[in-house]
Amino acid sequence: MRRRPEAIQPIELAGPPPRQGAILDVRDLSVEYLLESGTVLAVDNVSFAVDPGEFLAVVGESGCGKSTMLFAIARLLSPPAEIIGGSVAFNGRDLVGLTESALTAIRWKDLSVVMQSAMNALNPVKSIGSQFKDAMRAHGVASNGEIAHRSAEVLRMVGIDPIHLKSYPHQLSGGMRQRSMIAMALLFTPELVIMDEPTSALDVVAQRSLMVQIKDLQQQFGFAVIFVTHDMSLVSHFSDNLMVMYAGQVAEYGPTRHLFDAPSHPYTVGLMDAFPSIRGPRRALSGIPGRPPDLARLPQGCRFSPRCPKVMDRCRTDQPPLYRVDGTDVRCLLFDDGAVDGQGSNA
Ligand SMILES: Nc1ncnc2c1ncn2[C@@H]1O[C@H](COP(=O)(O)OP(=O)(O)OP(=O)(O)O)[C@@H](O)[C@H]1O
Ligand code: SF4
Ligand SMILES: [Mg+2]
Repeated sequence: MRRRPEAIQPIELAGPPPRQGAILDVRDLSVEYLLESGTVLAVDNVSFAVDPGEFLAVVGESGCGKSTMLFAIARLLSPPAEIIGGSVAFNGRDLVGLTESALTAIRWKDLSVVMQSAMNALNPVKSIGSQFKDAMRAHGVASNGEIAHRSAEVLRMVGIDPIHLKSYPHQLSGGMRQRSMIAMALLFTPELVIMDEPTSALDVVAQRSLMVQIKDLQQQFGFAVIFVTHDMSLVSHFSDNLMVMYAGQVAEYGPTRHLFDAPSHPYTVGLMDAFPSIRGPRRALSGIPGRPPDLARLPQGCRFSPRCPKVMDRCRTDQPPLYRVDGTDVRCLLFDDGAVDGQGSNA
């Protein structure tokens, strides 16, 4: 599992190197929930970048901070959550400092968001067409003809007959509601679409067909996607880069193919072991004994140490920084120059 030591550099302080031409550059993003019982750091110094047209998948067990991170990027967090540090540069502009009106101009138009449950995101008492109209009017499209034309066009793009512009959300199937949300997210052909488990409420067949459609649309229109999922099969088929999160932090981040072929972090190794083969049956994340820690009561040292098959003594006291390992970022002391082979219990 370990790679050549000369390819390894600790990069904790500098973060990943800047990527020229990236449309999104997230640096040291940290988000806290301020609770009566204390604070919970749900997103801890996360850094990554997304290129135009890139498909970035984000995986990690429930409660590891995926949705909080996406909401922070889209500046949709509400109390008790708060961004406490870092920057989110979208086309060179830091979204973290922007006013609500400046954000409204960007959201939907340049950056749109599709959340897990379209039933919650869509207004139940308005027809699909009227919700599309509201979104377009909010961005200055006044012509009824243009609104009708574009609304029908985006609905057709996701495989729904425009007759359903007259339908209310409850009159549509779960799959059609998710497709309608995706159509709404594409009203203005944004540069980045953020999707938080957009297919998880659907059955396997509907999931796969929606995924194929998302990928087709992405290739056709060239927008970038950040896609949170629990499904490693979707990740392997559709993403360019993969971020594995664990307990609010990046555990491993790099090219998807690389992480599948040669995972470095013991947690990623566990995820890949739980996923039989790229062409094998679809499976959700599973197979790693134990549970992630409560973010309010983190273990000392490495957050994965209570579950790690490679745990070393120092893992229980030292917090691992990120190391650059052959083009991937890995948060594991096995990649520290000072780590001794054979010290781990299974190494
Ligand atoms: N409304 C809230 N109030 C307080 N703490 C919260 C709240 N929502 C989330 N958290 C904290 O933030 C952590 C991350 O939650 P988040 O919803 O971002 O995880 P997730 O990775 O999206 O999980 P899932 O896969 O279940 O959607 C949780 O473990 C919890 O400690
Ligand atoms: S730092 Fe130690 S406990 Fe943490 S993942 Fe690496 S080997 Fe396992
Ligand atoms: Mg979530």
